[in-house]
Amino acid sequence: MNQQPYAEPWRVKMVEPLKILSKAERETKIKAAEYNLFNLAAEDVYIDLLTDSGTGAMSDRQWSALMQGDESYAGSRSFIEMKKTIQELLGFEYVLPTHQGRAAENVLFSALIKPQDIIPGNAHFDTTKGHIEFRQATAVDCTVDEATDMNLELPFKGNVDLTKLEACIAKYGVEKIPFVILTITCNTGGGQPVSMANIKAVSAICKEHKIPMIFDAARFAENAYFIKTREQGYQQHSIKEIVREMFSYADGMTMSAKKDAIINIGGFIALRDRELYRACSTFNIMFEGYLTYGGMSGRDMAALAAGLREGTEFEYLQARIAQVKYLGDEISKLGIQIVKPAGGHAIYVDALSFFPQIEQKQYPAQVLGVALYVEAGVRGVEIGTVMADRDPKTREERLPKMELLRLAIPRRVYTNNHMDVVAWGLKQIWEKRESYKGLKIKYEAPIMRHFTATFEQL
Ligand code: F0G
Repeated sequence: MNQQPYAEPWRVKMVEPLKILSKAERETKIKAAEYNLFNLAAEDVYIDLLTDSGTGAMSDRQWSALMQGDESYAGSRSFIEMKKTIQELLGFEYVLPTHQGRAAENVLFSALIKPQDIIPGNAHFDTTKGHIEFRQATAVDCTVDEATDMNLELPFKGNVDLTKLEACIAKYGVEKIPFVILTITCNTGGGQPVSMANIKAVSAICKEHKIPMIFDAARFAENAYFIKTREQGYQQHSIKEIVREMFSYADGMTMSAKKDAIINIGGFIALRDRELYRACSTFNIMFEGYLTYGGMSGRDMAALAAGLREGTEFEYLQARIAQVKYLGDEISKLGIQIVKPAGGHAIYVDALSFFPQIEQKQYPAQVLGVALYVEAGVRGVEIGTVMADRDPKTREERLPKMELLRLAIPRRVYTNNHMDVVAWGLKQIWEKRESYKGLKIKYEAPIMRHFTATFEQL
């Protein structure tokens, strides 16, 4: 290959020193945290891959935008700037700021969802599902079956199975379905993208039945990168052109701006329909704040606008997604099973094949997360039985098809040397994998238990 290697299109201007505890100290810390990684003090973590949400490094342009934030209650210049950027990049007329993604879900769903409604989608994110179930409605997962076969190296495993979607509409009827939600990229399914062809096809089905199509767009730019690099016909298009086309098929969106807009806090709803915007506005004022700040400060909206522009640059996305793939390749080389292909923001390690001796009801992915912290000071997050929660009706534990430890990579924060430490930590565990035992829950909350549950070792 005679192609110049890619490298990050930025250099480091300021660093944040990290503390490295000894293994014995980490053992004490995780025991005190009752084996829930959320309970650790972040300072006691060396490499924090808990989430890519709100943990990115802002650019000097974003920091300078912060200094120019306009903190006016109504009509702030920073809001207008943010709104213009969203209109230009994503093509929606109406914009409502919210303090983060789940707040956008809360506001939009308050306007759209009634009890007993059905919301089809592609593996809804847990807060999305939480906000649906909280309203006595049901999220129906219509993702393609291939998504749960982690060995299948397919380019678009976030796609909706159109037959499942049609069947869902036929079964429940249009009146019961206030909207279809497409999560791009699909986080729950392994950070896997949705193809433009699939977006188009879902949109056509929705239009035919007059059902609005909404994007959960937290990682839309990473999704656009995969379309550019994997889908026939898009190689010559810029990321911004692809983004414009993707959103042209949707009626609205919720956004956790803590991901692809590379800011530490913030979100928004964007819509085409004025009536829906008005209905949401009332809830926004009640839950979030006035229409031109919605729980964000002016400076955060200014940084959001700058971040959206940077986050949709090809060179940035290329370096970001290559780093995620680098970690995936290093882990795969050890013979450890991961969800393939590597996702846009994270690597998902299969805990069932890692620890075949640990029953799924003894939370193997949680065990792996605890072990990785002890070995290498790395914090991931369980995406398995703990996060799957209990069935809201039967209260039985739901055993998901995949039991995963997610290693989410913050944007522009760590180097590939850090990724080597992560892979090394997994190698230590892998070499003595037979010696691990399961966990038992001591305390759990009735919904979204993974954040606060406590465990004991079996
Ligand atoms: N939708 C998706 C696809 C998400 O991944 C998240 C958050 C949300 C909505 C909610 O946004 O956190 O701003 O309220 N995901 C984070 C994660 C928490 O770690 O994956 P939020």
